[in-house]
Amino acid sequence: MPTLTQADAPVSKYQQNDHALPAFDRLLESLSPEERPESVIELGTASGLFSLALLKLLRHHIPTLDSFYTFDNAVRKMEFETRLAIEEHGGSVKTGDILKDLEGFISDLIESSGRVWLLCDNGDKIREFNMFAEWLKPGDFIFTHDYAPTEEVFEKEIRGKYWNCLEITDGPIQYSIEAYNLTPIKDSHFQKAAWGAFRKKA
Ligand SMILES: C[S@@+](CC[C@H](N)C(=O)[O-])C[C@H]1O[C@@H](n2cnc3c(N)ncnc32)[C@H](O)[C@@H]1O
Repeated sequence: MPTLTQADAPVSKYQQNDHALPAFDRLLESLSPEERPESVIELGTASGLFSLALLKLLRHHIPTLDSFYTFDNAVRKMEFETRLAIEEHGGSVKTGDILKDLEGFISDLIESSGRVWLLCDNGDKIREFNMFAEWLKPGDFIFTHDYAPTEEVFEKEIRGKYWNCLEITDGPIQYSIEAYNLTPIKDSHFQKAAWGAFRKKA
């Protein structure tokens, strides 16, 4: 893994703990080239510093990555240099409300791209997960932040140790998990990072 940490973020930090990038790194390592993503869609850019770190990590593992999109309705949170760096690495920064104006654009993107990773870190995790999960194709992955499988797991294993924000558990996304054949990726790094990771059965 390239050395990518919060230290890459001199002005403002990204809203992740230090387990997030290693979790994605380990997953990429564990996948064969045929299973790795061709397109990555991040919902919730904020400062863009996590987008940039993730994009560098993806390029390290997948030099042929087709596309990387990051969406936010308030890209003013991003330094101009960060946006430039994302674009220099082949990423696209898109502005708009993902739950309204951009819903069709994002669902088309999921449907029409090769293997997709969809990262949900927007303001309404449950809504975006349930809204976009139905467009996933077999072999695609969906991730959601500020997650624990249950409140009990969050209180026992995560709060006060790794992350203090819980916005989504399996309960309100259970319908999508079952209806769209999503299998959880069990990895302690994802749990410590407070990211849920699911793969749609091939
Ligand atoms: C938790 S922050 C993202 C953090 C970022 N992924 C990181 O790691 O630093 C959530 C972002 O979602 C954006 N957001 C909230 N509601 C949105 C919406 N309906 N459409 C697009 N972006 C939205 C906010 O502006 C905010 O920047």
